[in-house]
Amino acid sequence: MDDIIARLRDAGVPQPGYEARRITAWAARRSADGRPAITVDEVVRRRVDGELLAHVLGETMFMGRSFACGPDTFPPQPASRLVVEGAIEHALTTTDPRVVDLCCGVGALGVSVCLGLGGGTLVGYDISATALEFARTNARAHGVRASFIEADIGDPGRVPRECADVVIANPPYFGVADPVDNDARRFPREAVFADDEGRWLVRLCVRVGAEALRPGGVLVVEHHERMDAVVAAVDVGDMTLVAQTRSASARFMAVSCFRR
Ligand SMILES: C[S@@+](CC[C@H](N)C(=O)[O-])C[C@H]1O[C@@H](n2cnc3c(N)ncnc32)[C@H](O)[C@@H]1O
Repeated sequence: MDDIIARLRDAGVPQPGYEARRITAWAARRSADGRPAITVDEVVRRRVDGELLAHVLGETMFMGRSFACGPDTFPPQPASRLVVEGAIEHALTTTDPRVVDLCCGVGALGVSVCLGLGGGTLVGYDISATALEFARTNARAHGVRASFIEADIGDPGRVPRECADVVIANPPYFGVADPVDNDARRFPREAVFADDEGRWLVRLCVRVGAEALRPGGVLVVEHHERMDAVVAAVDVGDMTLVAQTRSASARFMAVSCFRR
């Protein structure tokens, strides 16, 4: 283990201890399953060469659960628990909720919301067919009733109106000129960057999400802290702002609103 940590640290991996534990736990699980595995040494070599650990392992952990993902997909990030926790907190009393996940990627956020609410039906939208294949696998693996639709959420009419009790979104919200770390450079570009300093897709999710809600439903959208004023000022139609939460680094936030 110490050797793995040292190799990862020397390569500038931000959390070498955490990733070393993930690699050894993954290898133990693979060998217990009797599945042919690439060796730990190979995993570490590829990580040191700059691949994302989630892409090498073909899975990542999010809020204590494993989600399949692969190259050309965005692995769910720890800060997005803000979205899941906000949705669960504000929709706890909804029975059999209909949950819509805009820009759903591999589906981890929507699946986690349904599991946290004890059921419901999930509909996810994304432009990436590859991500949606993983989303279907993940919903099946976690026993969540779900369908996933390949769509640009900006296309008029793609997301039906007044269909959802809960809408969540973690859209791309970095501007094309924003500095990002080495790992973020390995994410698909269309998953991370948007024009207009990343603001327009956040705004789009707020508008489309608000329209998709039934009265009394809740919308939770992740965004960058520099958009705080932009998002807080979004007074779309009948929406009431109920909470704003921040990640530990304070760089990322989630805004929760109710539809009146
Ligand atoms: C930051 S990733 C988040 C994925 C997922 N929500 C998560 O947190 O793990 C943003 C996702 O938005 C998708 N996306 C980008 N533009 C989109 C658009 N116009 N319509 C639908 N999906 C879009 C990307 O393919 C990517 O999967």
